[in-house]
Amino acid sequence: MSSWWREAVIYQVYIRSFADGNGDGVGDVAGLRSRLPYLAALGVDALWLNPWYASPQVDAGYDVSDYRRLDPLFGDLDDAKALIQEAHEHGLRLILDIVPNHTSDQHAWFQQALASAPGSEARARYHFRPGRGADGSEPPTDWPSIFGGPAWTRTVNADGKPGDWYLHLFAPEQPDLNWTNPQVRREFEDILRFWLDLGVDGFRIDVAHGLTKDPAFPDLASREAGGMLDAATEDHPYFDRDETLAIYEDWRRVADSYEGERVFVAEAWVADASRVARYLTPTRLHTAFNFGLLSCPWDATALRTEIDATLDVLAAVGAPPTWVLSNHDVIRHATRYGRAHTSLANARRLYGTPVDHALGERRARAAVQLINALPGGTYVYQGEELGLPEVEDLPPSVWQDPNRRYKDHDGPVRDGCRVPLPWSGDAPPFGFSPEGATAPPWLPQPAEWKERTAATQEQDADSTLSHYRTLLRIRREWLGRGLGDGAALEWLPQAAEDVLAFRRGEVLCYANLSAAAVQLPAGYRVLIASEPVAGAALPVDAAAWLVAE
Ligand code: GLC
Repeated sequence: MSSWWREAVIYQVYIRSFADGNGDGVGDVAGLRSRLPYLAALGVDALWLNPWYASPQVDAGYDVSDYRRLDPLFGDLDDAKALIQEAHEHGLRLILDIVPNHTSDQHAWFQQALASAPGSEARARYHFRPGRGADGSEPPTDWPSIFGGPAWTRTVNADGKPGDWYLHLFAPEQPDLNWTNPQVRREFEDILRFWLDLGVDGFRIDVAHGLTKDPAFPDLASREAGGMLDAATEDHPYFDRDETLAIYEDWRRVADSYEGERVFVAEAWVADASRVARYLTPTRLHTAFNFGLLSCPWDATALRTEIDATLDVLAAVGAPPTWVLSNHDVIRHATRYGRAHTSLANARRLYGTPVDHALGERRARAAVQLINALPGGTYVYQGEELGLPEVEDLPPSVWQDPNRRYKDHDGPVRDGCRVPLPWSGDAPPFGFSPEGATAPPWLPQPAEWKERTAATQEQDADSTLSHYRTLLRIRREWLGRGLGDGAALEWLPQAAEDVLAFRRGEVLCYANLSAAAVQLPAGYRVLIASEPVAGAALPVDAAAWLVAE
């Protein structure tokens, strides 16, 4: 039997926006536990939880102050243990989010470092360096923070004079750890063991292509600076460096020392699929998100090129692909596919440009059907099963994303895909918080979401939620007859420039991205289609799975 993770459907729980059990307007473990039956009924195999650790929440939990405790916002260790057990009872595996590139500035190690002298052991766990220029007032390198401004912040010495600078590739409250330090390496292996001992099934690795830095600290100079998405290929000073791979060989030994299959998924925004494959050799990580497909426009040639490139390079290392359309950092794809420009365009998100929501949702349904027919695993970002759009008009007073670079220019950015889920009812909080809640949801939900609640969609056989449920049920049924990990993808001769058509074992998958209906082959019946198929004509922007009659 194939390993569970090679073809798993994994649901991303953005915990602060999933379900609020205690009525404070923020999602938590109690809320998640109460919704496990919904997740089991959806038909997913595992959950990935965004960080739930103790944190000042400057970057929604990606600034961790204690990796072995839950933030009281979300619950405590007893809640975590109960969740792990109950998820397993529902047949759902649980993957945590580990954040190794940086800690919070409130982490005990960083506080010790600030209180210690330059050159001390406490400072050696981070990157402290003298500034440039006669008085050290220039940052040590020209590296920019992903969130805007320089990646260095100057400290103040005990005598009140300006001191060394520390590195933070993200917000100043997220100092980067020094991964050449053996204490850092030991500590993270210990953190992995702490959670593996409690029974978690794996980890999503935050900024997995980060961690190590060029010890010479060269300037970026003429290199393309900036976002995670533009990481250069060879010999970048802080992204996608070879030394990082050795860390994952140690981590793999830790995971393999446990019963059951405990796994890693890398968040690695690197140049292309061949760079991703370096992380996925048999002695390193198990899987990585496929951001190539997530970035692709709604265009059959671009999608096919990406699919082929991914399958080729991952086959060479024996790793399964994992296809993903949305997450908590990028624009929701039901909105992206409804614009004239359908590729990721993350830096601007194209807020304010026209969106055809009905078109976007229709394409989103076809896209999820397409990726679930591909070899490997898939991810569902919470709310996409309800066809949720990006919320583009959050008022500035509620924006929380620390990402200044985008915020200054374009709008709420990542907050727009993080709005709490609508579960039921006619008005906010739409069942997100219990009756009598003391606070409104941490981001306001659009009034129109009354049409999109899970409760409403459960009653409607044509809803996007119903499509997901049927799709995942049928996927499961057909894993053994062609949709499973082992079966190759064979492009069909009918595949045209703007139609994707391929065979996986007994199942044929068609996705019509052209401007006209496409005739499906005779002798086959439709197993499931994302839009009604009349007279074997597959409508535009729809997908269908077929099997021989
Ligand atoms: C990853 C996370 C993102 C976070 C960043 C810094 O990209 O997905 O949400 O802001 O890392 O930890």
